[in-house]
Parts: sequence; structure tokens; C-alpha cells
Amino acid sequence: MKHKQKKPKIVYIGMCADLIHTEHINTIIKAKELGDVVVGLLTDKAIASYKRVPFLTYEQRKKIVENIAGVKNIVAQTTLDYVPNLRKIKPDYVVHGDDWKTGIQRETRKRVIQALKEWHGKLVERKFVPGISSTQLISSVVAVGVTPAYRLKMLRRLLELKPLVRIMEVHNGLTGLIVEKTKINKNGKVREFDGMWESSLTDSISKGKPDIAAVDITSRIQTIEQILEVTTKPMIVDADSGGLPEHFMFTVKSLERLGVSAVIIEDKIGAKRNSLFGTGVKQAQDTIKGFCNKISAGKRAQVTDDFMIIARIESLILKAGLKDALKRAKAYINAGADGIMIHSKEKDPKEILEFCKEYKKFKYKVPLVVVPSTYNQITEKELIKAGVRIVIYANQLLRSAYPAMVKTAKLILKHNRAHEADKFCLSIKEILELIPTIE
Ligand code: SPV
Ligand code: MG
Repeated sequence: MKHKQKKPKIVYIGMCADLIHTEHINTIIKAKELGDVVVGLLTDKAIASYKRVPFLTYEQRKKIVENIAGVKNIVAQTTLDYVPNLRKIKPDYVVHGDDWKTGIQRETRKRVIQALKEWHGKLVERKFVPGISSTQLISSVVAVGVTPAYRLKMLRRLLELKPLVRIMEVHNGLTGLIVEKTKINKNGKVREFDGMWESSLTDSISKGKPDIAAVDITSRIQTIEQILEVTTKPMIVDADSGGLPEHFMFTVKSLERLGVSAVIIEDKIGAKRNSLFGTGVKQAQDTIKGFCNKISAGKRAQVTDDFMIIARIESLILKAGLKDALKRAKAYINAGADGIMIHSKEKDPKEILEFCKEYKKFKYKVPLVVVPSTYNQITEKELIKAGVRIVIYANQLLRSAYPAMVKTAKLILKHNRAHEADKFCLSIKEILELIPTIE
């Protein structure tokens, strides 16, 4: 009788494999006992859709996983959802740690079980060993820090991977840490800020000075360094008008060397005034030619291809009209701008959306940036629809901290003691433990 050779079973494992640890290896060992192991390696985009962008690129992660004994094959998993790949491959087994029964991956698990039923496949769950997890390893990486070159590239990487990059204002180390660490879980996804905006307004105000460039670039750079020291996320710096082109060239070099990803300069000249004053104070716009020269000078000064110079258009702020804004956008892109920021101080987003609509028609486009401080009813979903690629929440951390601090100060004055203010404060224990010592 002819002996029929048994076809090996196919075993599927979905993985990010960013920071490989023993749990990944144990899962692969378990899977190998069951058959030929196919790793569904999540693409950078798939990972970015539900959590922080991976430290290693897809190609780097693929090279690592390919060389792990026991892995027969690797396929790209382009969504967090396993089902599209499972339907294609129809594995006999899916192997996963049992930690996904609860938490954000619960829904993914349910869908895997449902899909496997279609061809009588089975989910095999390994007991999760608490103590080793990617989340912990990520915290360790954050504690150690990242190199300037790694951080610098991150903004371009985010722009490749995410429909909208979410940036939050910072003005000191503590606000840097808030942007670094604040996360919420929503609809099975981790939501957090992608990077930081070092705002001229909040940097100045937190030093007790108005936003008139009285806090000079040397001081700004000191603050920037303090923030970079305790964070790993990319930073965009607000450099006001950038000053004279020959001075802006030095600013570009300094920021790039520190690992800042981008600088935004506004097309204004003369005494610096905050844009949100609008036409209420005297503000003058640069000529198109003058500002293009400054952009080009900055582009010549940068060392890497990664650093971005973003041109900020003040035409709507200064009531120069949509046509002028569009004309400037085209000219600034031609001069080498890597991004366009369009600003408005209107209470509704109408003029911004009009700009976006026309901008979409441009043949040559660079990422579009907006700062919805006054027209803050607009949602991120609406911004994505309008074609915006970077949203900056430019001042909310400082604006919320200030009234809280004044309230506490007044409560202490009123009651001649601190007892009544205490319930609005972080406990002594919490503040002592807020920033742990690095062991
Ligand atoms: C800043 O945050 O300093 C800005 C944005 O430049 S705005 O205050 O709206 O001008
Ligand atoms: Mg500013």
C-alpha cells in the first residue's frame, strides 16, 4: 500500500516583533510543535493605526524574524485585524498569548475565532507570563532616550504612516513628559500624541514674558534641550519669523543638530506680535520674494535630508485674502518648503476649509499644517477629510495649568492655610513618585 505523506499543518502568528523578547520565542516554539510557522508581521502602518510607531522599520523587523529558528515563512499583515490574512492563508492554527482575552485586543481575538471556524481552524492560546512585555521594554527605551538622528527622522516617518500627525504644545520638561506619556484607550486603539510643538507663545508666557521674541533663540534652545532630554517623541519648533536669513541659517543648523524634526517660520516682518491679535495690532507680512529667500537659505543650511522647514502663511490672519494665501503657498513650495502651515484666528473653520479645498487642487503639494486654537470645534476626522496632515494643539497645556494655579493661590490666601487647596493638588506621595529615579 502506498504511504500517503501527511501535509504539514499551517500555524499563523501575528506579530509586531519590534522589541523581541522570550515570550515571542516561546510562542514560536509552541507554534512549531503544531506545524509550519507563518508569521504575519504587522506593517509599520498597521502598527501606527493602533499604537506608537515601532522603533524598527518593517524591513528591519523582517530581517530579525526571518532568522529566528522555527519560522518558515513571513507575510505582511497590513491591518491590526488578522482576518484578511487568515482568509487567504487558511491556517490550521493561530497561536497567541492568552493576555488578549481582555483589553484592547479583545475584539481582534473574537474576529480571529469567528474566521477560523470557516475552515475548522483552531485558536491555541499560550499562558501569558507576566513580567516580560513589549510595553515594559518600550518604557525602558523611553527612559534611556533616543539619538538625535532617530528622533529627527521620526516626523517624516509619521507622515508616511499616519493620515494625521497629532502634535501637542510643550514649554518645559514636565509638559514634555505629559506629551510623551499621556495615553487613552479608545475603540480598541491606543490614542496618544505623536510629537511636540515648542511654541513661542507658551515658552514666552511660562517665563513671564510676552510673545514678542524677547525670549531669544539662545534661551529657546536651552528650553528645547531640557525637553529633548526627557522625551523621545519628535519636536516641531516655532521659530517666529526666523529673523534675518543669515541668522535663520544658524537656527536651522542648531535645531537639526539637536534632533528637532522641523521648524516653522511665519511670513511676517518687523516687530513680532502674536498672530491671534490679528489686525488688532500692527503686523506686517514679508514680500513673497523676501520670504522665499529665507526658506531657500534655510534649506541650504540643513545637513540631512530629514529636517523639514515649514512655511507659515499669515494672509488670513492679516486679512490679505485667500487668493494671496494660495499664491504664497505655491511660491513657498517652489522655494523648497517641506510643509505649509495655514493659520486663522476666526471662530469657525470656514476660511481654513476654503484654503484646504483649493490646496487639494495643487499639482505639487507638501504636508499641510493647521493650528485650530480659535476654530477648535473642528474634529480630527474633518481635518483628515480636508487633506490636513499635521494638527498642532498649540497652547492648551499652559492655558489649562494657569487657572488651576491661580485658583490654588487664591484658596490659600482666602483661608490662611493650604488645607482647602489640597484636594485640587497632586498628593505629596504622587508628586514624589511622578518622575521615578532611573536605576
Ligand atoms: C505659538 O504657539 O506660539 C504660535 C501659534 O505661533 S499662535 O499663537 O496661534 O500664533
Ligand atoms: Mg508663535
